Order: sequence, then structure tokens, then C-alpha cells
Amino acid sequence: MKLTEKAHQAWSQVVQLNDCCVDMTTGNGWDSLELSKLVGRQGKVYGFDIQEDAISNTQGLLSQGSKYQNFKLIRDCHTRFPVHLPRGLKGQIRAFTFNLGYLPGSDKSVITETLKSLQAMKEAYTWLTKDGIISVISYRGHHGGKDEFKGINQWIQQDSIEYHRIEASAKENSPVFFLIRKT
Ligand SMILES: C[S@@+](CC[C@H](N)C(=O)[O-])C[C@H]1O[C@@H](n2cnc3c(N)ncnc32)[C@H](O)[C@@H]1O
Repeated sequence: MKLTEKAHQAWSQVVQLNDCCVDMTTGNGWDSLELSKLVGRQGKVYGFDIQEDAISNTQGLLSQGSKYQNFKLIRDCHTRFPVHLPRGLKGQIRAFTFNLGYLPGSDKSVITETLKSLQAMKEAYTWLTKDGIISVISYRGHHGGKDEFKGINQWIQQDSIEYHRIEASAKENSPVFFLIRKT
């Protein structure tokens, strides 16, 4: 099973109807689509990406693939998510998801950045409901990817955050799935 499928499986055990979730890197929209289905008609999915192509691909996929108009897509850096979400949602978000790296089939020079990713993750943790999750897929094979992976490891260990880590394979540069849980 691919790590993205493992992530979707993990969300399905945590995310409930009517929940609010945030996709912090919408890319082609596959993760947003999954969340949109899980939260249902009365739920809400906010999606962020810095690339116009990613936002329009996600808009297209959700319009076709989801039965619900339960999403809002925002072209902005994920560090700025608190500017866009209603303040009342602080402490209420069930899941944030980060699928790091670059948009498949697009400009590989536009990638997530360690400092921004970590800033957004740390702030996201404060917006989670109890037992809410941050799901992260980290790619170590591209330039900067290993530093991003190390930064995430360091943060969760220093702050004694509860998490599970699954590596795609034993290879040194294989992708890693972190499932971080708010206690
Ligand atoms: C691996 S792709 C995401 C794949 C996506 N979740 C899917 O299901 O198709 C990573 C995405 O992160 C986006 N990205 C990079 N830096 C970002 C930032 N600072 N804020 C928001 N999105 C960012 C890229 O534009 C790219 O679309």
C-alpha cells in the first residue's frame, strides 16, 4: 500500500461526519477529495496551496469527484492559514494534512520549505481538537527534503508529541509518513 493510501486509511479512522479538516498542500487535490468525502455535507475542508495550477486542479477534481460543496480553496502559503480560518475554529480542527515536496507533473523547483512547513505544523497543532491529527508525508529524495524530514523529527521529539512513523521502505531516502496526535 502506498503511503498516501495509508494516510487516507488513518484519516478514515479519525475523521467523522461534520468535522472540519485542512489540507495544507492541495496539489492535484486527491487528499482534499478524500477529506471532503469523509466530513460529508455539513463538514468543511479548507485547502491551501501557493500554486494557481494546484488550486485549479483541486477545484476541478473536487467539483467532479465530491458530492458536496463543503470545501474552500485558498491560494496562499500554509503559514498564513490562521488569517483565513474563522477564529472560532481554533481547537476544533480534526485533521491537518501536509503532503510535502513538489506538485507531481509540475515545476519541481516549487517545493515546500522546512521553516515554513514547521511553522505551519506547530501552529496547526494548537488548532487541533483533542485527539485530532496532523498527517505528514515527507520525501527525503529531493533537494531540501532530508532537512525537512529532520526538522519534523526534531520538533516532535523535543516537544514530546505523540506520533507514529511509517517508512515506505528500508531505503535511506524513502518517503516517511508521520501521524501526529494531539493529546
Ligand atoms: C506533493 S504536492 C501535494 C499533493 C496533494 N496533496 C495531492 O493529493 O495531490 C505538494 C504541494 O505543496 C505546495 N506547496 C509548496 N509550498 C507551499 C506552501 N508554503 N504553502 C502551501 N502549499 C505549498 C506545492 O505547490 C505542491 O502543490
